[in-house]
Amino acid sequence: MKGIVLAGGNGTRLQPLTFVGSKQLVPVYDKPMIYYPLSILMFTGVREVLIITRPGELALFRGLLGDGRQLGMTIDYAVQDEPRGVADAFLVGAEHILGDDCALILGDNLFHGADLPALLRRSAQRLDGCVLFGHHVADPERYGVAEVDGQGRLRSIEEKPAHPRSHLAIPGLYFFDDDVVDIAKGVTPSARGELEITDVLRGYLERDRAELVWLGRGVTWLDTGTHESLLDAGHFVRDVQRRQGVRIGCVEEIAMYMNFISADECHLLGEAMSTSPYGQYLMERARAHTADHWPPTSLEEA
Ligand code: G1P
Repeated sequence: MKGIVLAGGNGTRLQPLTFVGSKQLVPVYDKPMIYYPLSILMFTGVREVLIITRPGELALFRGLLGDGRQLGMTIDYAVQDEPRGVADAFLVGAEHILGDDCALILGDNLFHGADLPALLRRSAQRLDGCVLFGHHVADPERYGVAEVDGQGRLRSIEEKPAHPRSHLAIPGLYFFDDDVVDIAKGVTPSARGELEITDVLRGYLERDRAELVWLGRGVTWLDTGTHESLLDAGHFVRDVQRRQGVRIGCVEEIAMYMNFISADECHLLGEAMSTSPYGQYLMERARAHTADHWPPTSLEEA
């Protein structure tokens, strides 16, 4: 399975933070925002990722993540010259996907939960068409909304409905088979002028090939689209990390747990930033990973 992180968009709601930089590079507590969605793709087992950025920002992302080799991954970049909507990712990324399954994550979506890595891998393995996720929220009108029947089967999908039929929001993480490029090509701009991801999902639903996987209460899903929610996300990350002493969205550590890199390689990445607590943490985790250690340093802990 290939991965795409969509890090385009003008981030107008975060101005002036986004005047001279990308929204997806803004810090969420101790790391750039994009680390969090990237870590979700890694947990799914994806090693080949395309990052889609707006013009002029590609070099910034490349400066941060390079070609991905240090994480045992391959990271490529593509430019979306105008923000044409989420579904445009498949047109920009068509060549990257080339006959493979694909996981798309929006660069401003944060997820956290102990059971999440296993859930993601299970969902990716049994992919037949597309998988979308559902998460109960208080304000569904801000998101894509799913309606399900009593058995949890999808009934309808709507983009930001004024009168939502449920509280089940559809987060910005989706798995698709290789039909997605053709389906996306058939989508026309919505009233807000965007190629909507919900129209792609509906294309799969009409073919009876869309599965909704419920993200239960144990999963936290945060978006970072406003100054308030960005600060909330930062506080969330800090509070969990400070209390538990483990980090969320720490891509180097996850690369080690996923066996993309060795513990020694992870240690070296830590050494390169050893004056920061982040670097010291990486060295500590790398040492614990190789030592006889209880509790085990498992993936689900990360
Ligand atoms: C987009 C999608 C929407 C989804 C949301 C998740 O909305 O269109 O279906 O629920 O991301 O963050 P946007 O960020 O474009 O408002």
